Amino acid sequence: MNLYSLNGRLYDSLVYLFTFGSEEPFMRSAIGKLQLKPGDCVLDWGCGTGISLRHIRHFISEGRIYAVDRSPKMAQYALGRSTPNERLDYHFIVREGVGLNLQERVNATIASYSLCVLPADLFEKAVREIWENTHSDGRLLMIETHMLPPTTRLGRLQQKLARFILGRFFDDGVSAELLPIVERYFERRSLDHDVATNARAFIGVRRGNALPSDLPAPCGAASPHPAGMSTL
Ligand SMILES: C[S@@+](CC[C@H](N)C(=O)[O-])C[C@H]1O[C@@H](n2cnc3c(N)ncnc32)[C@H](O)[C@@H]1O
Repeated sequence: MNLYSLNGRLYDSLVYLFTFGSEEPFMRSAIGKLQLKPGDCVLDWGCGTGISLRHIRHFISEGRIYAVDRSPKMAQYALGRSTPNERLDYHFIVREGVGLNLQERVNATIASYSLCVLPADLFEKAVREIWENTHSDGRLLMIETHMLPPTTRLGRLQQKLARFILGRFFDDGVSAELLPIVERYFERRSLDHDVATNARAFIGVRRGNALPSDLPAPCGAASPHPAGMSTL
């Protein structure tokens, strides 16, 4: 079964149950740190049912939002949640995000739990595509599942179960490979880990040139800062 072909309301309920509702406050705070400005053009990569769209809308009153998702059902549900007006327009695109082809470059991209559900061999292609569709000083916010090493037996069991559910239903392989790739294209400004949601939020600024793959950007598994702190 693929969750993304489900009805959006059911999908949202499952996510809420799985995260005990803690996902949204973390997402909103991370989007706030992107410092979006009125008039910005923002890409929501893998918009899903539009949860992230709702938070983007909170931070820009005017501008343009591109919402891309490969699942027609998810995009349809997100469309119903959009609130366009004469100063803010939305473009919904049902497409593989590894072939974006946007009409213009964006000021910021939000990839919330979406790059991390790709097969690992598509990470680089997708990140490069975002990089190519971003202004020279544009930013990327990537939120992904991230689990700290468990310290107890029970913790190990819980993590095994969580990984199973994430992989089975959400396609999320909880990979450590994604962040080093992202850091070759976007220079890190902050990396915040949230223990409650088992997630981390990376914010980076577009590099002029991608760093070569044999010279990985320093990323480290853990942020040098305690959870909640930011260096932006
Ligand atoms: C876990 S959901 C996250 C949705 C939303 N961003 C959020 O935070 O609630 C992942 C989304 O990424 C989309 N997705 C996965 N692979 C994609 C691809 N190659 N191109 C575009 N969208 C993709 C899925 O269809 C799904 O809607």
